[in-house]
Amino acid sequence: MNRYAFNAWYPLAWSRDIGHALTTRRVLEEDIVVFRTEAGAVAALEDACPHRLAPLSIGRLRGDAVECGYHGLTFDCEGTCTHAPGMPRPPASVRVRSYPTAESMGMVWVWMGDAAKADPSQVFHLPQYDDPAYSVVEGDALPVQANYLSLADNLCDPTHVVFVHQTTLASAGREETRVMHERQGNKVVTWRWVIDGPLIPVFEGLKDFGGNVDRWHYYHYHAPSIAVIDFGSARTGTGAPEGHRDDCIQMYACHFITPVDERTCVQHWLVLKNSPADPAVDERLRASLRLAFDEDKRVLEAIQRNEDKPREWKRIRLALDASSIKMRGIVEEMAAADGPPAA
Ligand code: FES
Ligand SMILES: [Fe+2]
Repeated sequence: MNRYAFNAWYPLAWSRDIGHALTTRRVLEEDIVVFRTEAGAVAALEDACPHRLAPLSIGRLRGDAVECGYHGLTFDCEGTCTHAPGMPRPPASVRVRSYPTAESMGMVWVWMGDAAKADPSQVFHLPQYDDPAYSVVEGDALPVQANYLSLADNLCDPTHVVFVHQTTLASAGREETRVMHERQGNKVVTWRWVIDGPLIPVFEGLKDFGGNVDRWHYYHYHAPSIAVIDFGSARTGTGAPEGHRDDCIQMYACHFITPVDERTCVQHWLVLKNSPADPAVDERLRASLRLAFDEDKRVLEAIQRNEDKPREWKRIRLALDASSIKMRGIVEEMAAADGPPAA
């Protein structure tokens, strides 16, 4: 079976990081050269010249075409060879693979499978991103030396929060709070409520509720590689669990994961919050979340190092794994639906 689901839109890079220059990214073990055309569209080509496999990224941009840095074969954004030095006309059969791209939520997305199936209207977009009631706090591209599904496990799992994120996202003594989960199409939703508890550290200073809060965490995992965590707090006893959340703090932490290879992924994250942009508040939030995601990274990379050691070991399944088992099942279904692995 395929090791990855190819027919999907994957996060490639922050839009802010792609300009009119050759840049490289690696996705699903494929090396890609990325650049913006003079008109601003994003082009993505396989980063290997079909002549001798020189990486095109070490060549140069000529207008909107890439000239190989070895013998000058030149390719347009579709991967068609438009110029071959010393030949009256480039050989028609010479092509480099091009990948469909799209932009949404400040990210460039790439379609890694059958280009005929790429539908830009299916690129992930959270409606709140365009809602003026929310402001965007754009984060980083955090490299994580772990398999992307290990990070995905983490993003379907509210139970680790109290152990891993004591100073940022957790409130102590809540490790027994019940977790619910449900599959919805190619998404797994995992959620828990903490009733009548203190504000979590990350929310401190954002709003004064004058006492304890009811707090929710809904983890939406869109297979194969997108997590949106809807978390927030409202004053306890005001009916937040029943849907009365007029006066609340709400955030959507969006994690766009680029699977690089079996042992590496990149975690792109941003946060939408239901309060206006404020440089000082936003920078503090960014710093706290950076700390929190580094806490996950530390654990996940240590797990990967242990997984890489030769040993007799089989995963133990606990009740808390229900969501990640569902999520991994969906990814397997998607990979199987792609058909047999490409030769
Ligand atoms: S390797 Fe690219 S033109 Fe020769
Ligand atoms: Fe975490």
